Amino acid sequence: MSLDVERPGVGDAPAAGDSTPAGGRPPAVDRPPAAGAWLHRHLLDVDALSWPDIDLVLRTTDAMREVLARPIAKVPALRGTNVTILFYEASTRTRVSFEVAARNLSADVSNIAVASSSVTKGESLVDTVKTVEALGARILVIRHAVSGAPYLAASVFTGHVLNGGDGWHAHPTQALLDLYTMRSRLAGDVAVTAPGAGRFLSGRKVVIVGDVLHSRVARSNIWTLTAAGADLWLCGPATLLRGFEAWARAGAGGVADRRFTVTSDLAAALRDADAVMALRIQQERMAGGMLPSLREYAARYGLTAERLGAAKPAAFVLHPGPMNEGVEIAPDVASGPRSVITDQVTNGVAVRMALLYLLAGSAGGEALGG
Ligand code: CP
Repeated sequence: MSLDVERPGVGDAPAAGDSTPAGGRPPAVDRPPAAGAWLHRHLLDVDALSWPDIDLVLRTTDAMREVLARPIAKVPALRGTNVTILFYEASTRTRVSFEVAARNLSADVSNIAVASSSVTKGESLVDTVKTVEALGARILVIRHAVSGAPYLAASVFTGHVLNGGDGWHAHPTQALLDLYTMRSRLAGDVAVTAPGAGRFLSGRKVVIVGDVLHSRVARSNIWTLTAAGADLWLCGPATLLRGFEAWARAGAGGVADRRFTVTSDLAAALRDADAVMALRIQQERMAGGMLPSLREYAARYGLTAERLGAAKPAAFVLHPGPMNEGVEIAPDVASGPRSVITDQVTNGVAVRMALLYLLAGSAGGEALGG
């Protein structure tokens, strides 16, 4: 993965057929997307995205936020396009925000409740995907407990597939909304959001603490945060970091300037941090012998106001949700002045609007593997 890819429509001069205006301003999203403005047919993970791709997602999200601020937060951009939401796993934030995002773009939305679908009669994922396509789906948003399931769906679906989270593997829209939320929080620094702004997390220390091993959120964030230049630290008990050391040494994509730090020393991780993300600790991890007890985890790794005192004064706190308050994060931190957790949820709608919009204008993109 190259961070230096120059791509039509992301920079100073728009290419023919590109909806991105000169100067890197947000694209005009009131009308349907221009064909070819986005090169990836699917969004299965963020590892296929170059920095200019990510920057275009962020700027398109700016445009969507402007839409959301209107008295009627709706544009006709995806009128006549069917977006089908197929979640095999529980979700509140991702499922609802995709539904709201698609409706805000005037798409037709089908929400499949897997528990009351033919999946319960043994229908395979491939058959279900072919069925929803025959019913008119053009964009398929899928969540599945099995890593790789969205890739299988993409291999048989002729439209666009958006991964809403698969197993431990990837949660690309969460990583992009996390990045957008950080960018919004840092927006007082004009270098962050100015047209053509570079890797805006350069020189910023970002810490992810918790169950890294089982976290698709952490895996996708490794790509986006290092792409944005962050000094990234992953922290947790050694049992929940296994395998990440080698990746950290090689760097995301094997790129030297995208190395990150893996540690079980929470005090060292939090020292002078600019942003801290807590990850959910799941009860089932104890059954696997990975944690002695939730109480011990909370005592050693819970994000408390006292521990956050080691971070920079302006440091802010994220959590992808759902939260176990009192375990990985203290209630007063979750709802305190440093928390941007509600902003993450709100930004999820705008980011997903941007991604639906960009994919609808995709040229195909198989050549980029996306
Ligand atoms: N962050 C996240 O994926 O939350 P949901 O499981 O509620 O969608």
